[in-house]
Amino acid sequence: MSDTINYTDWAGEVLDKIRTKLEWVSEKNRHRIPYTTDESGSYDDRSDLTRRWGEADGLDWWTNGFWGGLMWLLYQDTKEEKYAQIARISEEKLSCCFDGFYGLHHDVGFMFLPTAVYDYRLTGREQSRRLGLHAANLLAGRFNPAGGFIRAWNDLPGEDSRGWAIIDCMLNIALLYWASEETKDPRFRQIAMRHADTVMEAFVRPDGSVCHIVEFDPETGERLKSHGGQGFCHGSAWTRGQGWALYGFMTSYRHTGREEYLQTAKRVAHYCMANLTPEGIIPVDFRQPKEPAWEDSCGAAVIAGGLLDLAAHVPEAEQDMYRRAAFRILDALYRTRCDFGPGCDAIVQNCSAAYHADRHHMTMVYADYFFAEALYRLRGGLTDCF
Ligand code: GLY
Repeated sequence: MSDTINYTDWAGEVLDKIRTKLEWVSEKNRHRIPYTTDESGSYDDRSDLTRRWGEADGLDWWTNGFWGGLMWLLYQDTKEEKYAQIARISEEKLSCCFDGFYGLHHDVGFMFLPTAVYDYRLTGREQSRRLGLHAANLLAGRFNPAGGFIRAWNDLPGEDSRGWAIIDCMLNIALLYWASEETKDPRFRQIAMRHADTVMEAFVRPDGSVCHIVEFDPETGERLKSHGGQGFCHGSAWTRGQGWALYGFMTSYRHTGREEYLQTAKRVAHYCMANLTPEGIIPVDFRQPKEPAWEDSCGAAVIAGGLLDLAAHVPEAEQDMYRRAAFRILDALYRTRCDFGPGCDAIVQNCSAAYHADRHHMTMVYADYFFAEALYRLRGGLTDCF
């Protein structure tokens, strides 16, 4: 089928449906910052200021940038001012997180790139630039020079996490690349590259799969061990983590031109493609048992977006292989895992936060973001956020 498909037209048709749905979803949730939907299909709201800082459902929850990011994608496409206005409601709420400080982790990239930085890139708004630079300074301050890594989280209950770095941070460091480009100060980029180099060395396995969490000695920088994190077990291959690696190494390549990042992205891409089923449905972990067959549509969308970025940066003869794989994933999501109807505020279904989470096959706002972004990458005409 993909031999004859016109990807640009196909992506355009799916994006028409996304726009139609998000027209009413965005009005309904104008003042919220959603993460997931409840039993009635309505989005929740993580922007409750009465929550304590650092609580999973509070304002500093790590996914709180994606609702704004989705609105900025629509704004770019439609030029309708209402999407910019809704995105700014998120941005202004998120700016209050700086007061809480301790609830902010390495995820300031996920929070402020799709909101403040995207706003600044698209509109030149000065106060958004300031928010973005503030967040970049916090992220740079998490760098551990002994191990050459960015610390993931602040203290976790019952864990000494001073030496923990996680694969997800490969997207957050895009905030540092942006800050260097913006200020002409190379320190942010130098930190981002040191972190990416450490990840190449300490996370990526010989077969191209990656670990989720690596623990270093915070004093000496010695690599101590890896942890299974959100995947099936220690040594497994959490699919969204493979996606963060592929997508993130491409982001590092785009910002630096360093060939090793492109080659690493390729290795991770080939690991993912070798494990893709003909149906294109993505499990929570490529090494999970057959049953229960938990899926993660969000990981699928992230991998597809990374493959499309890769396709755009390799010689012509290699491009089709990556685009076909991305199409297989996106087409499977579109045909079998999307809800374009009025019964649910979210579009992408069957997402899982972690293999051992209490809840599976839920909706997650960042799945909608990465699905839409991948489609815009396939169709063309997008200013990148990461
Ligand atoms: N960054 C955490 C996750 O992907 O769930």
